Amino acid sequence: MTDTTARTAPAGTPESEAGQPAERRGTQIRLSAVTKDFGLAAPAVDEVSLTIEPGEFMTLLGPSGSGKTTTLNLIAGFETLTSGTIEIDGHDIGRLPPHKRELGMLFQNYALFPHLTVAQNVAYPLRERRVPKAEIAARVAEVLELVQLTGRDHNHPTQLSGGQQQRVALARAIVFHPKALLLDEPLSALDRNLRGALQSEIRRIHREVGSTFVFVTHDQEEAMNLSDRIALFNQGRIEQLGSPEQLYDAPDTLFAARFLGDSNVFELEGGVTGDTTRWEDRAWRVDAATVSRRSGVAERAAVVVRPENLGLVADEKDVPSGANWVRARVRDQEFMGSYRTLQLALGGQERPGRARVSTSDASFAVGDPVVAWWRPERQRIVAA
Ligand SMILES: Nc1ncnc2c1ncn2[C@@H]1O[C@H](COP(=O)(O)OP(=O)(O)OP(=O)(O)O)[C@@H](O)[C@H]1O
Ligand SMILES: [Mg+2]
Repeated sequence: MTDTTARTAPAGTPESEAGQPAERRGTQIRLSAVTKDFGLAAPAVDEVSLTIEPGEFMTLLGPSGSGKTTTLNLIAGFETLTSGTIEIDGHDIGRLPPHKRELGMLFQNYALFPHLTVAQNVAYPLRERRVPKAEIAARVAEVLELVQLTGRDHNHPTQLSGGQQQRVALARAIVFHPKALLLDEPLSALDRNLRGALQSEIRRIHREVGSTFVFVTHDQEEAMNLSDRIALFNQGRIEQLGSPEQLYDAPDTLFAARFLGDSNVFELEGGVTGDTTRWEDRAWRVDAATVSRRSGVAERAAVVVRPENLGLVADEKDVPSGANWVRARVRDQEFMGSYRTLQLALGGQERPGRARVSTSDASFAVGDPVVAWWRPERQRIVAA
C-alpha cells in the first residue's frame, strides 16, 4: 500500500537531484464544477470539483467511459470546458492553449519520434523551449539516470523494449520540469510483471522530483499501489475521494465497495434503525461509526463485509459474542498460494460471498453448511 508519509516526510528516500525540497516544485490544480458535454445522453464530465494538492499523487480511477481521460484532457487543454473552472496555483488556465500550461503528459502509447535517438527524444521539449545546448546535455543525462537508461542515449526507440520506451517517454515528459505530470494509463500496454516494476519506478520518480502527478487508470490495484489519494469516477462524477485505505476500509457506496476489492454484500430491504438492521431472518448490530453518510440519505442501503473480515464456524453457538452472523454454504474454493478463498452461498437467498482462510485450514469442504460471522465494527453500511 502507498506510503502516505513519503510526500511530506521524505526521510529515508533519496533527495532530488537538484537537492531542492520537494514542496517547491509542487503545483496545486483546482477543478471547480468542471463539466464537459459532448452532446451525448449525459455529460462526459459532470460538475467535477477536485483540488489536487502540491506534490500529491492523485489517481483518477473508474470504469471505462466514466470520464477520466476527458478530465485529464480538460486539465491539459486538449478539450475545452463546457462550464466550470480549472486553476493552476490559483490562476485560471481555462483559456490557455496546452503548450502554455507547462504540463508534462504521458500516454499509453509511448509516441516517441522513431527517427530520433533516445537522447534526442528526451531533449525535444528543451529544444522547443530554446534551452542552451550545454544545459540540454546535462538535463538529458540527469533525467536518463532518473529513469535508469544511462548509456542508451544513442539507441533508437525500435532498439528498446516496451518498458524502456515508456521510460524514455517518461523522461521526455519530465525533463522540462513541468508544473505537473499528467499520465493516462501509461502502463496498460505493458505485461503484468513489467507493469509492477514500472509502478515502483513511477512511485520513486514521484518522490524524487516532488511534483504533482495526476494518474489515470481503471486498474484498482495500480491505483491502490501508487496513490496518495484516489478520485473514484462513476458516470462523469466523483463517487468518492480519499486515500486508498479510506476507499477500501470505508466505502460510501456499493459502487465504491465493489470497485475496490472484494465484498460480501447484503442488500437491505429497510434501512438502519437505531443500532440494528435486519437481513432475512437475522438482526444485526450496527456500529454507528460504520454507517456511511451517503447511506443515510440513500433510498437503499447495503451491509458490506470484506472477505478477510469474515470468520467461519461450524455452528452458531461457536460465534463469538457480540458478532453478527449468517448461515452459509461452501460452494467452491480457490487456492491463492498463501491463503484459500472459500466461495459461499449466503443466507436463504444464497447470495454469492467470499471468505479468506489459511491454506492449512481444512475445517470446511465444498458443500458444507457453515456460519459466517464478523464484528459489527468490521462491516460497512453503504448507499446501494
Ligand atoms: N471526443 C469525444 N466526442 C464525443 N464523446 C466523447 C469524446 N471523448 C469522450 N467521449 C465520451 O465521453 C465519455 C467519457 O469518456 P472518457 O474517454 O473520458 O472515459 P474514460 O473514463 O477515460 O474511459 P476508458 O477507461 O475507457 O479510457 C464516454 O461516454 C465517451 O464516449
Ligand atoms: Mg481513458
